[in-house]
Amino acid sequence: MIKYGFIGTGNMAQAIIKGLRHKGVLAKEIAVYSPRSAAKLTEKWGVISLPAQTLIDESDLVVLAFLPNQLENVTTNLNFQDKLVVSVLAGITVEQLIAATHTTQIVRTLPNVNVAINQGVTAFSKTDLTTPNSNAFKAFSDYLGSSVNLAESQFAVFSAIAGSGPAYVFKYIDALAQAGVANGLDGDLATNIATQTVLGSAQTLSLSTQTAKELQASVASPGGSTRAGLDDLDTQNFDSVIAHAIKATVEHKHL
Ligand SMILES: NC(=O)c1ccc[n+]([C@@H]2O[C@H](COP(=O)([O-])OP(=O)(O)OC[C@H]3O[C@@H](n4cnc5c(N)ncnc54)[C@H](OP(=O)(O)O)[C@@H]3O)[C@@H](O)[C@H]2O)c1
Repeated sequence: MIKYGFIGTGNMAQAIIKGLRHKGVLAKEIAVYSPRSAAKLTEKWGVISLPAQTLIDESDLVVLAFLPNQLENVTTNLNFQDKLVVSVLAGITVEQLIAATHTTQIVRTLPNVNVAINQGVTAFSKTDLTTPNSNAFKAFSDYLGSSVNLAESQFAVFSAIAGSGPAYVFKYIDALAQAGVANGLDGDLATNIATQTVLGSAQTLSLSTQTAKELQASVASPGGSTRAGLDDLDTQNFDSVIAHAIKATVEHKHL
């Protein structure tokens, strides 16, 4: 029996499939459909390639993972009956998903790329699911990392912080590493040091009872070099630079 069927096999579907495989979901429990790339994925990972309707009929949970503007085109001739459908389509509401699929068992999600290493954070908003479907969705989302039940009106801000956020964290790591190089460190070494610093700091914060602000103060003793750096970030309006970028992300209109 197929547990998870993916319609669309691009970057996000592949990140989710990697996460599922790391957690021990078998390749033969995963089916994929896409017009061009599905066969390649079967070759690479041993997952099962099926026509879209067969995939829907045989899967416990169907993931919609094509581009948002393809919703109508892809779903027109498919019969979802009352299948559990999990969409990752950015910007597509639960109402639009119900209208396109005619199933009552819908979960709108927004995962981020870290689902590939089971460290994602996924927003979801769902219709009333039957108990088996609710359990099936919980198992699926647990494989991906943590998840938050969000009002659909908050998906745009979630998308800016969690969806786009990894790019901003990578940019921060790169800036930290470049500053290390400018001050005499080798490039690869500077990147490794910056990466481990961000990783360790995030873990310290997630395990701590202190806030991010309190932890800043605990690193920066009064009059010390870290305090000098934090004061400089404040002078340069670091927080408002970040706030500005998040606002630009939230307000961006898809072309
Ligand atoms: N990437 C992210 O970080 C991210 C984060 C959150 C949400 N999302 C959402 O995830 C979805 C996929 O994004 P992506 O980055 O994975 O895109 P992508 O890499 O461009 O992949 C798009 C996929 O759609 C498939 N496709 C095209 N026409 C199709 C059809 N008629 N029927 C079924 N599948 C079809 C393509 O198949 P072929 O290769 O065979 O043409 C391809 O596998 C989007 O809706 C996006 O909003 C992405």
